[in-house]
Amino acid sequence: MDINGSVAVITGGASGIGAQVAKDLAKGGAKVVVGDVNEEGLKSVVAEITEAGGQATYSVGSVTEDADVEALMEKAVSEYGAINFVFANAGIFIDSLFINVDKTGKVKTVMSTDAFRKVVDVNLVGAFLTIREGVRRMIDNGWPGVVVITSSINGTGQPGQLNYSSTKAALNLWPKVIAGELNMRGVKNIRIAGIAPGYAATPILLGMNQEALAAILTDVHVGRLIEPTELSSTVQHIIENEAIDATIIEVTGGVTYGPRQRAK
Ligand SMILES: NC(=O)c1ccc[n+]([C@@H]2O[C@H](COP(=O)([O-])OP(=O)(O)OC[C@H]3O[C@@H](n4cnc5c(N)ncnc54)[C@H](O)[C@@H]3O)[C@@H](O)[C@H]2O)c1
Repeated sequence: MDINGSVAVITGGASGIGAQVAKDLAKGGAKVVVGDVNEEGLKSVVAEITEAGGQATYSVGSVTEDADVEALMEKAVSEYGAINFVFANAGIFIDSLFINVDKTGKVKTVMSTDAFRKVVDVNLVGAFLTIREGVRRMIDNGWPGVVVITSSINGTGQPGQLNYSSTKAALNLWPKVIAGELNMRGVKNIRIAGIAPGYAATPILLGMNQEALAAILTDVHVGRLIEPTELSSTVQHIIENEAIDATIIEVTGGVTYGPRQRAK
């Protein structure tokens, strides 16, 4: 699909990966609608795009709310007349050990129900609503399109992230399930794929404890955080390459987990 002239809807578009994809697609001639709970961030991304000569607008709301997601999609339709690209990217993490045992051998803390539910709500229910409300409009209006979801390398299972890893592991299944359903019903002009980033240089990771960050980087073959632009270029490649469908592409800089495991 051509990026130039297409209409893109991006959740989590106020920051990090979503903001980078929004800016790069707008640079390529797409009309962009960014959604997020962070209005200040949305305004600043839209201002940056329009000042550079691109087209963009925003819709404030949570991906966990049906009405907010519908409003986001309707904004794209009313402003730009179509939806061709949906990036279900909004995500959060609330890390803790599921069962944390202290030196006496007794349980010290557990992951709270709230921490589990909130992460499932944003990462899974949010992606569910975003894709459903985007794809139903694409089909009913005959708009060709591409859907991309943001999974994570930690979808393979990371201690301290039972909630987050569970959501990303589930998302890894979705391109095959959804593309399979579209194929069953003869919908051939909508593709769905995902990216699974490794550790990326977005505000969350840049602000973390530098010692912990250095330990993480020993697991990464390229020895550095990956850049949002490296994820954005992968998203653009998925949009433009019709052969990429029903799959998830890892972009990690070579996360191996080996060295740190052996050092323990
Ligand atoms: N940064 C990384 O290293 C990394 C690695 C793997 C996967 N990811 C995934 O990439 C995606 C983007 O993360 P990022 O690194 O750009 O983080 P980020 O925090 O910079 O951006 C996430 C955005 O999602 C928004 N958001 C949170 N809850 C929302 C809600 N309920 N409704 C709408 N928007 C909401 C936030 O306000 C924020 O602007 C997430 O799904 C994350 O899990 C990130």
